[in-house]
Amino acid sequence: MNEIRDAVLSGEATPEDYAHIPLPASYRAVTVHADETGMFEGLETREKDPRKALHLDEVALPELGPGEALVAVMASAINYNTVWSSIFEPVPTFAFLRKYGRLSELTKRHDLPYHILGSDLSGVVLRVGAGVNKWKPGDQVVAHCQSVELEDAAGHGDTMLDPEQRIWGFETNFGGLAEIALVKANQLMPKPAHLTWEEAASPGLVNSTAYRQLVSRNGAGMKQGDVVLIWGASGGLGSYATQYALNGGAIPVCVVSSPQKAEICRAMGAELIVDRNAEGYRFWSDPATQDPKEWQRFGARIRELTGGDDPDIVFEHPGRETFGASVYVARRGGTIVTCASTSGFMHEYDNRYLWMNLKRVIGSHFANYREAWEANRLVQKAMIHPTLSRSYGLEQAGQAAFDVHRNLHQGKVGVLCLAPAEGLGVSNGALRDRHRSEIERFRDV
Ligand SMILES: NC(=O)c1ccc[n+]([C@@H]2O[C@H](COP(=O)([O-])OP(=O)(O)OC[C@H]3O[C@@H](n4cnc5c(N)ncnc54)[C@H](OP(=O)(O)O)[C@@H]3O)[C@@H](O)[C@H]2O)c1
Repeated sequence: MNEIRDAVLSGEATPEDYAHIPLPASYRAVTVHADETGMFEGLETREKDPRKALHLDEVALPELGPGEALVAVMASAINYNTVWSSIFEPVPTFAFLRKYGRLSELTKRHDLPYHILGSDLSGVVLRVGAGVNKWKPGDQVVAHCQSVELEDAAGHGDTMLDPEQRIWGFETNFGGLAEIALVKANQLMPKPAHLTWEEAASPGLVNSTAYRQLVSRNGAGMKQGDVVLIWGASGGLGSYATQYALNGGAIPVCVVSSPQKAEICRAMGAELIVDRNAEGYRFWSDPATQDPKEWQRFGARIRELTGGDDPDIVFEHPGRETFGASVYVARRGGTIVTCASTSGFMHEYDNRYLWMNLKRVIGSHFANYREAWEANRLVQKAMIHPTLSRSYGLEQAGQAAFDVHRNLHQGKVGVLCLAPAEGLGVSNGALRDRHRSEIERFRDV
């Protein structure tokens, strides 16, 4: 492993050098264990502690199959899916691995008693499998987390519609929170040259998701002038949604829960901000009953901020707690686009507001190959910036996931894998210098 790390850090190793570095038989990886999925039984979601469930194990290097690549992971990032996996909610992810393992001889590799998590990476290609021509050892890459088989016509127009669509490192094994990762070569994209390893690793999953959800015609198809209500506007998804709204000439209304988070949104260029904590919205008067008066108060506040406009688009992910309010405040003919249900997946809303006012609810999930590529291209061009606030070592991945679970973080939380320190891996210093303040905006806040 040291030889691999040294080759990357030297910056001088050739593709031939990489191809000749012997691969280790095992490597360190962040895992959950199949025999521990019951460890949090009887606890409230909030009390389930990722630090107890996440392990740093020495694991066997998987066999490389056709169309795949083994990547030396310099850095990765925490996504909420790692939180879900580590608290075994809504279901232990071993069920996904078992199902995938039944698909073919090759996918059997994924069905193991440990699950290597992580759906983001930046790093260097070590080996490619048969049939891979676009990438070679030594290429500096990031990976998106869309894993598809594409044997069925259903996914040929939009790869998210493939019946065998999976999120790598969540519904497959061998994820990015590790020293080496196994990906399908079609997941690879060029690493943005002006970013450090940890910055480059951080946008992948959330940036692609926000792009499809908000910008793509498969999602809300945002246009200039749209008022976009963004829940969690300084969080993982929201910090990218806010950038897309501003870049695309829309008007973000950012919902956050502290003055500090409001300040980050202002620094990104947003002007209309709701501090949901300070304004004390209680959309549920008890766990079974919503309070439409609170929806109205929230809607009135949005109109006050926008000068009378209701949101054309509501960027939804908190789910049960906010969904009723989101449906209520969307404008007549507006769109509620949802990709998650952090606070609960059984949503309730008053359907009269939906049908009488001709609103639409759109479900969105990650991004297809093309959308992920387009989202990464915007990062490469420094038109969308990483929102990394801090990084942990691989040994502290549990703490990193705990921070996200408890909403103690801003933007994205990074994890250094083979990178020995932060700040390495930049090869286009001039582009970085032009955007340094935007790239580092979330750092240490
Ligand atoms: N389908 C997909 O492809 C996909 C992709 C990425 C993420 N997701 C899901 O999307 C959700 C958010 O992911 P993320 O990476 O953005 O997480 P995150 O970094 O934790 O950000 C979410 C933000 O939402 C706000 N929030 C949380 N609970 C809320 C509530 N009950 N009411 C109002 N606001 C609330 C918080 O911001 P404030 O406290 O500042 O309001 C929080 O920072 C997760 O459930 C994740 O699994 C789905």
